[in-house]
Amino acid sequence: LWQLLPRDKSQPPLVWHWIPFLGSAPAYGRDPIAFFRDCREKYGNVFTFILLGRRVTVTLGPQGNDFVLGGKHTQLAAEPVYGPLTTPIFGKDVVYDCPNEKLMEQKKFVKVSLTIDKFRAYVGMIDDEVKDYLNTDPSFKVYQMDDINEWGTFPVLKAFSEITILSASRTLQGREIRESLTKEYAQVYSDLDHGFTPLHWMIPGLPLPSYRRRDAAHTKMSSFYQSILRKRRENPSENQEEDVMNSLMKQRYRDGKQLPDHEIAHILIALLMAGQHTSSSSLAWAVLHVAARADIQEALYKEQVQHFGTPDGGLRDFGYDEIRDLNILDAVVRETLRLHPPIHSIMRKANVDIPVPATLGTPSEDSVFVVPKGDIVLASPLISQVDPGVWDNSESWEPTRWYDEKGVAAKANKEYNEGEKIDFGFGLVSKGTVSPYLPFGAGRHRCIGEQFAYLQISTVISSLVRRMEFRYEGTFPAPDYSSMMVQPVPCQIHYRRRRFE
Ligand code: HEM
Repeated sequence: LWQLLPRDKSQPPLVWHWIPFLGSAPAYGRDPIAFFRDCREKYGNVFTFILLGRRVTVTLGPQGNDFVLGGKHTQLAAEPVYGPLTTPIFGKDVVYDCPNEKLMEQKKFVKVSLTIDKFRAYVGMIDDEVKDYLNTDPSFKVYQMDDINEWGTFPVLKAFSEITILSASRTLQGREIRESLTKEYAQVYSDLDHGFTPLHWMIPGLPLPSYRRRDAAHTKMSSFYQSILRKRRENPSENQEEDVMNSLMKQRYRDGKQLPDHEIAHILIALLMAGQHTSSSSLAWAVLHVAARADIQEALYKEQVQHFGTPDGGLRDFGYDEIRDLNILDAVVRETLRLHPPIHSIMRKANVDIPVPATLGTPSEDSVFVVPKGDIVLASPLISQVDPGVWDNSESWEPTRWYDEKGVAAKANKEYNEGEKIDFGFGLVSKGTVSPYLPFGAGRHRCIGEQFAYLQISTVISSLVRRMEFRYEGTFPAPDYSSMMVQPVPCQIHYRRRRFE
C-alpha cells in the first residue's frame, strides 16, 4: 500500500507490483522486452522495479545505454552483480572475482592472444569441425547418405551448441582440450553449464544437486586445465601451438608477476563459457532466419559461388581475409545480432548515489532523478536495437538494410560502433557511446570476443550454406527468455545436401 503514498520525486518511479519481495520478477522473467516497453509507456525511460527483493533501476534508449555502459567503474561496478553467478563457474581471481584493474589486465592478455594471424589459422579449423560434424553426427544422417534429393531435419539448439563448443575448443582452447571432448568431459561441461541459470544467479548457494554438480565440475575442469599447464611447463618444446593457453603463459601483470596456473585455467573456462551461449544462440537465430528466407539464402549461396567458385563447378576453401569481404554474410550476422542480441540486460551496482542525466528524456520536473546507492542499474541495448524511431521495419529480420542493391555494404555499418574511442588498458574501444546498436556492449566491459565471434559465426554459416539448402516450416520460433541468453525455443530445421563435395 505504501506504493500509493506520494513518491519521493528525486527517485525514479517505482513499477507497481502486488507481491512485495517477488516484485516484477514474473513479468521480467517471462518477457523482459515486453516488460520494458510496457514500463516505458507508463513511466518513461527511467524507472525502478523490484526483482526478488532487489531494486533495479532501468535506463532505456541510447542515452540510457551510455549511462550504464559509460559509467565510471568506481560508481557503477559489474563485479557485485555478475560475480555471484560467474565466480563458482569461472573460478577464483579472474574476471568478476578480482578488482576491475586486474580484469582490465586480463582482458589485455586475452586480446593479444586473439590476433589476426591466429584468426587466419582458425578459419580452416572451424570449417573442418563443421565438416566432421556433418559427416558424423546422427542428426545429419540424411546428409551422410548418397541421395542429395532427400530432405532431413536437425535440432537447432543441440546442433549449434555442439558446433560452437567443438570449434571454440579447437581454436581457442587448444589441442588437448579439443581431443578430450569425450563423453566424460561433455558431462563435466554440462554440469558447469547448468549452473548458468537465473536461479543460480539470484540464489548463489543452495543445497541442491545442481549446485553440488556445478562446484564439482568446476574443480574437475580447473584441475584438468592445470594438469595440461604443468605438462606444458615441464616440456616446453612439446607443445608450440598458437592457442590462448600458450599465449597466457607468456604474459606478465604490470607488477612483473606471471599469471599463476589457476588464473590461466580460470580465464580459459571464462572464455569458453562467455562465448558458448552467446555464439551458439546467435548461430541458431541466423540459420533459422536464413532457412525461412529463400531469397537471402540464395544470395548467400551466390556470394559463395561468386567468390570461391572453381571452373569445375565446385567451391574452394576460403580464408579469413576473404570471408571479411562477403557483404551479404556480414549483413546476415549484423542483422541477427540487431534483432537477437543474446544479452538482453546489462547490469551494474551503484556504489554511490548517482544523478541521472536529464538527456535521458525524463519529464523535465523529474529530470533530477538520483539512483540511490545500492541499486542495480540496468541497460537493455535490445530496446534501442528494435526501436521503430531508429530502424525501418524494426521488428523484421532484414539483412538488406545493411547493403545496397549492388551488395555494397552501407556506410552506416561502419558508423554504428564508432564514437569516441578510449584506451581502457586492453586496446582502443568505443566508450559508452550513445549508439542504438550495441550487441557487444561498450566501454570498459565491452566484449573481447567480438572479432572471434564474428569469425566463428561467419565461418560456420559459410560452411553450412555451401554444403546444404535449408527450409523452415511452421510458425517462426519465439525467443526463450528462461535461460541466461535469449535463444529460440526448441525447434528443427529441414536440410538437403547440395551437390558440392
Ligand atoms: C562481455 C556480447 C561472444 C568474452 C560481453 C558483453 C556483451 C557481450 C554485450 C558486455 C557485458 C556487460 O557490459 O556487462 C557478446 C556476444 C557474443 C559474444 C553478442 C557473440 C555473438 C564472446 C566470445 C567471448 C566473449 C566468443 C570469448 C572468446 C566476453 C568476456 C566479457 C564479455 C570475457 C566480459 C568483459 C568484461 O566484463 O569486462 N559480451 N559476446 N564474448 N564477453 Fe562477449
